[in-house]
Amino acid sequence: SFMLDKLSTIQDVEHSYKYYQIMRDTQPVWYDEQTRSWNVFRYQDVYTVVTDHQRFSSQMKASRSLDRVLENESRIKMGKALTRLDPPLHRRYRNLVSPAFTPRALSRLSGRIEAISQELLDQVRAAGKMEFVADFAYPLPTIVIAEMIGVPTSDRPLFRGWADELLNSQIQRAEEPHDGDSNVRRMVDVFAEMSEYFDRMLEERRRHPRNDMMSELLAVELDGERLSTEDTISFCITLLLAGHVTTLNLLSLAIYCFHTHPDAMERLRKQRELMPGAIEEVLRYMSPVRALRRVTAADVTLGDVTIPKNAQVFAWLASANYDERQFAEPERFDITREPNKHLSFGHGVHFCIGAPLARMEAGIALPMILQQLPELRIETDQPLELLEGSGILGFKRLPVTFTASA
Ligand code: HEM
Repeated sequence: SFMLDKLSTIQDVEHSYKYYQIMRDTQPVWYDEQTRSWNVFRYQDVYTVVTDHQRFSSQMKASRSLDRVLENESRIKMGKALTRLDPPLHRRYRNLVSPAFTPRALSRLSGRIEAISQELLDQVRAAGKMEFVADFAYPLPTIVIAEMIGVPTSDRPLFRGWADELLNSQIQRAEEPHDGDSNVRRMVDVFAEMSEYFDRMLEERRRHPRNDMMSELLAVELDGERLSTEDTISFCITLLLAGHVTTLNLLSLAIYCFHTHPDAMERLRKQRELMPGAIEEVLRYMSPVRALRRVTAADVTLGDVTIPKNAQVFAWLASANYDERQFAEPERFDITREPNKHLSFGHGVHFCIGAPLARMEAGIALPMILQQLPELRIETDQPLELLEGSGILGFKRLPVTFTASA
């Protein structure tokens, strides 16, 4: 079953797209007994589910074991994370962080993104090979988001440890882990560590404000009140997690698409201006986020199927992006595709707040990579392994070779 996205290999990904196509044609709104969830496959329906926040709520009760345990035992209530709120509260919280993501605020980061990318490339250029995930795709977005929030770059190993544990824990997707599960216990510890860490950082900012997001969040007021420390911490954690795994995988998936479409790679080397369109096509062609979860707030009819109230719904972005009702020749990787209204960043009030940042990071880093690493290829003597369990498409490792240079 591809329903819970147990994708281990690239062949699985290819099969999943065949499967989505069959579902779009035969059972576009399908109830899965095993996961007790409704699954939506067509572009128009996926669009409705992710956009219509009145009927498809993001506010989920803590049904999963991890959520429940965190809710009871941790000071950090991830239930207040942006992705879990509905309007009107959602808008108020989102407004607090959105200034950090305006084009003007982001343009100040572009020099740093270029400098970090250059530093990373300088470390590998002479070797003629690297493990792209560990040597480039992982550190770049992590350093950028860390600098944005305001945590010292020297604490990167800490971040990496937490992110790895959260990613590898599998429990985000596991059917019903029980409270005593050692994985669940470990996650509670990870959240406690993160929360202590940010607590210390925030305490420091309270005494000595700096020019960073933590200081700004502390100064901000919501309905005349300061944001609580708990809410500020959960904001930082959300950004840290949402911002780096997805972007790291976008970078790896782009390299994979270029490797498998050498003609596109050649064109992009010569015509840098095609890169923004190519990045959108990578997002459409291999959506890093496969599906979004919602809960029905009422009985809802999609096509000729009625989904009852309080049902869990998965909107399959990856399937919507291949819907032939929306995209001509969806199976073709076309860097000049126009229009390209993929749903990989979601849509509506929850539209990815970090999309401009992700686009900017990829838009700066990928041309530098193509320019500075001639004959870039993925080493394919070992089968490529995908990340499992996170619900996010990406590679565990991506060994590449290129022509060495001084
Ligand atoms: C929301 C994907 C990069 C922060 C979302 C959503 C998607 C998404 C699909 C919608 C969730 C929903 O409707 O339930 C991606 C992809 C990225 C990426 C594919 C990279 C290629 C980033 C970055 C950041 C970020 C770089 C922050 C630095 C967020 C936040 C939300 C969000 C805070 C919640 C917004 C809300 O609920 O209002 N992202 N994201 N993302 N993303 Fe991203």
